[in-house]
Amino acid sequence: MCGIVGYIGKQKAAPILLAGLAKLEYRGYDSAGIAVMENGKIEVQKDKGRVCNLCEKKEIENLQGSIGIAHTRWATHGEPSKINSHPHTDSNEEFAVVHNGIIENYVELRKELEKKGYSFKSDTDTEVIPNLIHYFYNKEKTSQEDVNDENNNELKFVKAVKQATDKLIGSFAIEVLSKENPDIMVVVRKDSPLVIGKGYNENYIASDIPAILSYTKDFYLLENLEFAMLTRDNIRFFDKDLKEFNKKSDTITWNAMAADKNGYEDYMLKEIYEQPTAIRETIGTRVNEGICKFDELDFSKEYLQSLTQIYIVACGTAMHAGLAVKSTIERLSKIHTEVDIASEFRYRDPLVDEKTLCIFITQSGETADTIAALKLCKEKGAKTLAVTNVIGSSITREADYSIYTHAGPEIAVASTKAYTSQITLLVLLAMYFAQILENIEKHELENIIKEMLVLPNKIEDILKSTEQIQEIAKQMYKEKDVFYLGRGIDYTTATEASLKVKEISYIHSESYAAGELKHGTIALIEKGINVIGIMTDPNLVKKTVSNIEEIITRGAVTTVVINEKIAQTLDTRIFTNVIRVPETETWLSPIVTIVPLQLLAYYISKEKGLDVDKPRNLAKSVTVE
Ligand code: M6R
Repeated sequence: MCGIVGYIGKQKAAPILLAGLAKLEYRGYDSAGIAVMENGKIEVQKDKGRVCNLCEKKEIENLQGSIGIAHTRWATHGEPSKINSHPHTDSNEEFAVVHNGIIENYVELRKELEKKGYSFKSDTDTEVIPNLIHYFYNKEKTSQEDVNDENNNELKFVKAVKQATDKLIGSFAIEVLSKENPDIMVVVRKDSPLVIGKGYNENYIASDIPAILSYTKDFYLLENLEFAMLTRDNIRFFDKDLKEFNKKSDTITWNAMAADKNGYEDYMLKEIYEQPTAIRETIGTRVNEGICKFDELDFSKEYLQSLTQIYIVACGTAMHAGLAVKSTIERLSKIHTEVDIASEFRYRDPLVDEKTLCIFITQSGETADTIAALKLCKEKGAKTLAVTNVIGSSITREADYSIYTHAGPEIAVASTKAYTSQITLLVLLAMYFAQILENIEKHELENIIKEMLVLPNKIEDILKSTEQIQEIAKQMYKEKDVFYLGRGIDYTTATEASLKVKEISYIHSESYAAGELKHGTIALIEKGINVIGIMTDPNLVKKTVSNIEEIITRGAVTTVVINEKIAQTLDTRIFTNVIRVPETETWLSPIVTIVPLQLLAYYISKEKGLDVDKPRNLAKSVTVE
């Protein structure tokens, strides 16, 4: 939650900061602000509302300074308002701070600081940080000689930031400006992301790489409690004890266009259309001559045989990807597999031990509950495997093993290409387990791989024409409630499709296992209600059709997603709308069937005139509990 950007160089900072914030708005968008060093003073401009509100401000246009910090907020403490927006300064206005994360002990810290004479303007947890820095910075002032020594002053600044962060309980990524040190910026992170982009005589900071990818491809991925002191042409790194060290930079291979809309009206639509590429890239080098390769894993047959269970833990759409592969993993590995919601799992003392393999799925790699669940499993002795899309993200620093989807940056709050790439990668992982355990015949493996390799073409076919889906969206967009039904693997798709429509079109939606409907929910079915049925499993289709017939009898308007083969076995005239998708192996079907349903949610949201990429109350990265 919250996005932060920083710039230190020779250009005007404000436009660079605003452009970076605009790319980070997916992390929060209820208020925004910037602070720029202007003629030896820290000039702060901030307000409630989106980043574009700031762009229109004359005061910002007039800022000439070339060092600055910026923030786009997703409110946690204190309502969205100008006063609660970042940057925050200390009561003497000598330090300015932007912060992403949560300071859990801010109430106690605030009381301590008030006793020392500091005053507070906002309701935020963040405001204690600049005040703590001010307190430690001034406490450190020794002799006049020291104060005049530039290097000593710089180090005093880093030291004050360190002393302040030592006091903080919680998570933070912070950027700090100091009036007394106008050519320096200090940054540090703990459990919230922060990257530094290295330029020529200029340096950039951001919560994630895409925000500053158009300026540089060389990045430093800051680890927990690493401090960086930046000038225009230098970056010095210090560890948690302020011991200076050299850090290696990473070169990113994505291009900036991957993080732009590239001609599409919305990121979500672009990302839906990127799914064939994302899946191809994810399969990439994992498949070779009929076998699955995971060079970063060293699981032996003995280790896999020793496992009594696999736990898949995640949140939201990532958790739905886990549900979609549960039965595939069980069938191929013959290991009992459970899927759980990270925020529940972490607090229920789960039965996990060294005989459990724990898999954590997270697109961003920053989701607080998922990371906390991983730490818990490690403590209990289990091996942990992270499945993520973001190289160097927080979860990869905690997990024993990390494997990556190669979906490219996903910006829209509603996850699409990450979901289909996660399922792809996890099916490959299941096949890899089966190979090691010798549970699968070579020809069987080859057949699934063959089918996987043509999946991107099948999705391309669906994406070629969307008129029918747009038409159904027009029929549905005024609805108050909709239902999604399916059995087996199709039920998992129903659950993800239902979340998509909820989060971007604000229509109340429920997903149900079709056979469960009669046990209560059917009472809600009345004339005109929209029900979407998903039927791709030939073994279960007849049962689902019976359930759908029961609701047609009660007046429901039905839309079904079926494949060509299933269509041949049914009298499709009983349904109001029939969306046909290409046929595929049942295990892989969620990757195909979700695509028209993502589009349906997208077009419903468009019909309603909503902001598809930034739905209300949501943020892309949920870095708080
Ligand atoms: O970054 P993660 O995959 O850990 O995020 C998990 C969920 O917050 C995320 O999938 C969320 O449910 C999406 N907005 C759904 O579209």
